Amino acid sequence: MNLVYLCPQFPPNYSPFCSCLKALGVNVLGIGVGSTESLTQEIRDSLATYYMVDDLHNYESLLKACGYFTHQYGKIDRLESHNEYWLATDAKLRQDFNIKGLKPDDMRFIRRKSGMKEIFRKAGIKVAPGKVVHTLAEAEGIIKEAGYPVVAKPDDGVGALHTFKIHDKEELLSFIEKKPEHDYIMEGFVKGTILSFDGLTDRDGNIIFYTAHTFSQGIMEVVNKCPTQALVWKNNEDLTEDELSAQRQVGSVEVTPRSLSGPEEATSIRIMKDGPIVVEGKFKIIGSDEQVLKPSAMTSFCRCGASRNMPYCDGTHRKIDFMDQSPEHGE
Ligand code: FES
Repeated sequence: MNLVYLCPQFPPNYSPFCSCLKALGVNVLGIGVGSTESLTQEIRDSLATYYMVDDLHNYESLLKACGYFTHQYGKIDRLESHNEYWLATDAKLRQDFNIKGLKPDDMRFIRRKSGMKEIFRKAGIKVAPGKVVHTLAEAEGIIKEAGYPVVAKPDDGVGALHTFKIHDKEELLSFIEKKPEHDYIMEGFVKGTILSFDGLTDRDGNIIFYTAHTFSQGIMEVVNKCPTQALVWKNNEDLTEDELSAQRQVGSVEVTPRSLSGPEEATSIRIMKDGPIVVEGKFKIIGSDEQVLKPSAMTSFCRCGASRNMPYCDGTHRKIDFMDQSPEHGE
């Protein structure tokens, strides 16, 4: 059996995928950026061949790699990667080389929230009311059914850059006016416990492994409430050229505990424009009773005086439109 494995460097904890396949007699054929030396020893020992390309976004070079494998080993039986970013690329290669598995047409149900909703509905699972909206009238149709608030998010992809919680007509009009070009799905906001259910089935659909997690908060709430805007979320399609370039470098450097943590840096105190004071580094916060309140690596302290969680910033400065008195502020 021949299995092509795209981007074997990432995620690094998936090395056993290759070594276990090899132990089962599978030819694991890797395609990635970065030299052979950038692979861990376990992966290097597991791959029958590693084909280096200059850029995994360059589809022509992926075609060449798969053509080479077919010539050397015969028909490719499976093609996988363990990075959601490459789902569509995997599907296209499977179609072009007639490999079993998800094809581009299946992406509608895998990547598009509206497609997933259809699958859930067919399976009898209750879903939030909603659909893709292009116009104000369509959005108002959803709101009539679901009521405010509603959530609007890009229909295609993972993550949630430009995800909006819309509470009233004013916010709705502003959303419609500024809405990016791509499709948006609008759904009624459902309050409740977020529970994930992920797993693996065998080829007959029997569950052989699963995990379930309960989330204390939705990711949208965590990111949107971040008082310093230090947390952001993005669709893979919305990555900047710098971020794409950084992705391309993954695997071409050895990531060691030291390179992850970086050198010890001095504590820094930054005054955010129209916002809190952010202290970052190694420090302790000691209360008036001499108790350590919060050992921390990064904390935002309120500068506007309106936080309901003093001395910390809780984001209220944005609600009250706090502005710096002095034009001189550092960041
Ligand atoms: S500075 Fe953020 S709540 Fe005061």
